[in-house]
Amino acid sequence: MAEATPQTIYLKDYTPFGYQVDEVHLTFHLSPKATRVVSRIEFTPKPDAVDRSFFLHGEQLQLIAAKIDGQPVSPDVTAQGLTCDVPSTPFVWESEVEISPVTNTALEGLYMSNGMYCTQCEAEGFRKITFYPDRPDVMSTFTVRIEGDEKVLLSNGNPSGSGEGWAEWHDPWPKPAYLFALVAGDLINHPDRFTTKSGKDVELNIWVRPGDEDKCAFGMEALIKSMKWDEDVYGLEYDLDIFNIVAVDDFNMGAMENKGLNIFNSSCVLASPETSTDANFERIEAIIAHEYFHNWTGNRITCRDWFQLCLKEGLTVYRDSQFTSDMRSASVKRISDVIDLRGRQFAEDNGPLAHQVRPESFQEINNFYTATIYEKGAEVIGMLKRLVGDEAYTKAVALYFERHDGQACTIEDWLQVFEDSTGRDLSQFSKWYSQAGTPRIKVTDDYLDGTYTLTLEQSTPATPGQPDKDPRVIPVAVGLLGQNGDEVRGTEVLELTEAKQSFSFDGLASKPVPSILREFSAPVIMERESTNAERAFLLAHDSDSFNRWEAGNTLAKEARVAMVLDAAAPDADYLDALTKLVRDDSLDPAFRALVLSPPSQSDLAQTLFERGHTPDPQAIYDAAETFAQTLAEALTDSLPRLYADTTVQGAYSPDAESAGKRDLNARMLSLLTRLDGGEAAARQYDAADNMTQQNAALACLLKAENGETQSQAFYDQWQGDRLVMDKWFGLQVACSAPKKAASAAANLTEHALFDLKNPNRFRAVMGALAMNQAGFHYEGGAGYQLLADNLIALDALNPQTTARMCSAFQTWKRYDSTRQELIRAQLERISATNNLSRDTNEMVSRILN
Ligand code: ARG
Ligand code: ZN
Repeated sequence: MAEATPQTIYLKDYTPFGYQVDEVHLTFHLSPKATRVVSRIEFTPKPDAVDRSFFLHGEQLQLIAAKIDGQPVSPDVTAQGLTCDVPSTPFVWESEVEISPVTNTALEGLYMSNGMYCTQCEAEGFRKITFYPDRPDVMSTFTVRIEGDEKVLLSNGNPSGSGEGWAEWHDPWPKPAYLFALVAGDLINHPDRFTTKSGKDVELNIWVRPGDEDKCAFGMEALIKSMKWDEDVYGLEYDLDIFNIVAVDDFNMGAMENKGLNIFNSSCVLASPETSTDANFERIEAIIAHEYFHNWTGNRITCRDWFQLCLKEGLTVYRDSQFTSDMRSASVKRISDVIDLRGRQFAEDNGPLAHQVRPESFQEINNFYTATIYEKGAEVIGMLKRLVGDEAYTKAVALYFERHDGQACTIEDWLQVFEDSTGRDLSQFSKWYSQAGTPRIKVTDDYLDGTYTLTLEQSTPATPGQPDKDPRVIPVAVGLLGQNGDEVRGTEVLELTEAKQSFSFDGLASKPVPSILREFSAPVIMERESTNAERAFLLAHDSDSFNRWEAGNTLAKEARVAMVLDAAAPDADYLDALTKLVRDDSLDPAFRALVLSPPSQSDLAQTLFERGHTPDPQAIYDAAETFAQTLAEALTDSLPRLYADTTVQGAYSPDAESAGKRDLNARMLSLLTRLDGGEAAARQYDAADNMTQQNAALACLLKAENGETQSQAFYDQWQGDRLVMDKWFGLQVACSAPKKAASAAANLTEHALFDLKNPNRFRAVMGALAMNQAGFHYEGGAGYQLLADNLIALDALNPQTTARMCSAFQTWKRYDSTRQELIRAQLERISATNNLSRDTNEMVSRILN
């Protein structure tokens, strides 16, 4: 069993630390098995402290010596930290500890990745480096001396000295310990420079292992664009002489915003046309922006405690989505974000892991780096902006920086600047932070004598620990279309505040067709009776591109639901609309690709479940297959031409327009493969000079079970490239037929290049299995068992990545009793594992309850 009684931490118990930390000096003597960390920390007792106990966090540290004001002391050390008697006047604490980076497989604290030293401290990893008040509201300036043989020795802030075997760094900006970073290795830099709008010259570097230096240019461009954008749009400038990014192969998450020294999962920064897909390029640009934007939203203004995580993450995701919208296509970005939100956040919000955007308790904070905190947190900011207006948003955010720069803040502080600068009462709005669950909005309408009335009724289902919900304020953007497709009322934001409320539009010549929740103005599920004819009308005419896509998406969903429930043939009108749309060259290719992309199988399962059916993953898969086959056949005559016409010629460029074309082209190829058995795909594979086309062709061939030659060729070509090999591992599982997915994944875990210790490789295989819905849930439960085996094996090495992957089981209550029993057995088996981590224990118990 896990720890006897896992401790729960509550927001309501927050108390400030009783000491001010004036300055921190750290010296690292690097050595793989025995790194010595010497700390010298100046503390001043706070005169008004409620709690004066002197507790320093510390885990897996071997204490060598401790002193107060130069005198040796003997603190009481436990597995969580130490306490010590300290003076009531300012004092200097010194300690020396020993740690072992090379055996640190949890990838938290100081660890080694392919021979280089690196750190990950957020959320609570600094306590694995030295004894410290490891909490975000304790901010201080750091001076760091690194002694080691590595060519490159980096830490936060500005360089303040270096010599043979040492380097020193000073960070003038007070920061919490979770933003501390250290990197040491034989690295190569891709350098550039940036001059801020007030004329400050900043040195920029992307540091990589030798061999990766040709994959930095795109990331550097993205960084420079981000720096410029934050100046232009938010007026925010960079504040150090140097900005470093380091690529690391073994990393639990995407990237980390350490002050002046961002550390990235190499998959989120390294890019080249030969090794990265269009999707990789777009994601890299967004993540570089995200981490850079944290310099203000996260670092200059940080969180008081970890319950406030969305304060920095929701806002920073919102900012990076604004950036991507500006760099690329805003409507394509919005549609993709909603697909992602529905796929990940709605699944979370409507299952056992549902939690508030600002949670009020946790056992392990690492389990709360979720789609709810990040993506729903960003949606909440989008709604706030829509409610107060763009100008008021800009004013309130400026006030936020003015009032709170250098502080550790709460959601209350954030909302207060909006209240103060707009005069608006946001108490009802704050329920978006305190109430979990996805609101449902039921819409009915009525037309009489030129007046059209929309009645909106909101309710939110119970979530764990929150049986009853109050009405929230929900911005519902609405436009009205006349019978000929013209817009008769432009977009207007209805503010739904009551449980049930009506809104009227008068002076209309005839009954309009409503376009509701334009741009997806709120993260809700809308329930409204409609017809396929009306949906097709909106797909053809709506001026709001999100709702055009949404109309097509609903048609796609309803067609499949009918196929699953009534064994209906694919809806003919919808097929017809689709074939027209595919051929319509006046439409943006990226938009066409999105309309052609089928609703996810998980989304369909959730829809069926909500309507009172037990989803059968195999039936959902079969419907998707039949639909795609029918569509391909309906397009028989035009597919070869459509495929040829959408093929992007010339040198590869990752820009949004070319990427959109290639996306559409890939969809044409996958339809064409259903007709030609893979001939065109094999040709594309041979001719491809970029990973986007090579990857798409291989996926089609594997799906058609006709890709053995190419899979081998791909392996031979790329076995030396870890990131490309992750694609190879993932594709085998993602493209497997349901029956074969679990055994394909099992075989891959036996492969010489499978490495449990590398999160990217683990996720490539196990993540792909979990995503292959019909494969994961295939009858008999082999998928469940394989995942559980691997989670149990990984938990002993890396709790964070294990716990995160447990969410594959979060939807289990949707399914039939046989599947539920199979999953329950695996969850109980995981839960009964000896020495299970706190991370995994918390996830499994929440999922089981
Ligand atoms: N703050 C990082 C980001 O969103 C995420 C780091 C989270 N890491 C963790 N181990 N929980 O940019
Ligand atoms: Zn972030």
